[in-house]
Amino acid sequence: MKFKVLTLFPEMFTSYFSSSIMKRAIGKGLIDVQFINIRDYTKNKYNRCDNKPVGGGAGLIMQVQSIFDCLKNVSTPSTHKIILTPRGKTYNQEKAKELAKNYDEILILCGHYEGVDERVYQYFDEEISIGDYILTGGEAAAICLIDSISRLIKGVITEESIDIESFDNNLLEYPQFTEPYEFDNKKIPDILYSGNHEAINKWRLKESLKITKEKRPDLYEKVEKTKQVQKLIKEIESNTELPKWEKDALTKGKKFIKE
Ligand code: ADE
Repeated sequence: MKFKVLTLFPEMFTSYFSSSIMKRAIGKGLIDVQFINIRDYTKNKYNRCDNKPVGGGAGLIMQVQSIFDCLKNVSTPSTHKIILTPRGKTYNQEKAKELAKNYDEILILCGHYEGVDERVYQYFDEEISIGDYILTGGEAAAICLIDSISRLIKGVITEESIDIESFDNNLLEYPQFTEPYEFDNKKIPDILYSGNHEAINKWRLKESLKITKEKRPDLYEKVEKTKQVQKLIKEIESNTELPKWEKDALTKGKKFIKE
């Protein structure tokens, strides 16, 4: 996947893309991220890319000419062109998946100052916002997009990590633990040591349902209520003693060593 980022501040991206998973993905040639300085496409004496809003008002507006010329130079007919703006459609995991699947080259314009000249929008395929808040510019939003799309590309992270993660079937991820067994009087649930993978998966799904219900009731409404999910919901709602499958997993489970 190739990303082309149009920005006035390419240096803002340096440390993010030269660290950790993004660095490795670039090193392996799985993604390619190019930062293009819009200022290089200005035609005026002072390389200005912004100006006062016509009609008055606060701040500076990014001008259309440099963005237009930059786009003309760096995009091809198959480039999917995204403009980041708080007025765009709110970004989510589903959108990340769609972008990762459908495009080989994604161009992202990071707006700055008080906004961009309205005539800029017509040159883009879509407007995306990363949430209902206003950033000083689109650079942080571009990092969110590139990161979330890149990790869906084969080889960037382990496939297992993608298989089970938050937002699949509108569920938040189940609680995860790592040693030590006990910390500050809180213990890792014994079922995770049982060696019974079917029971562990069931327990995890049940915990996902509980967490989603508590933290994101809006998502919980949309969870597909399969037979197994319905059964687990009943168990959660009845709030009685442990169901048989959970008890069995605990009593018949492998012996484990706790530190
Ligand atoms: N630029 C400023 N705020 C933004 C947001 N919430 N999403 C995308 N781009 C932005």
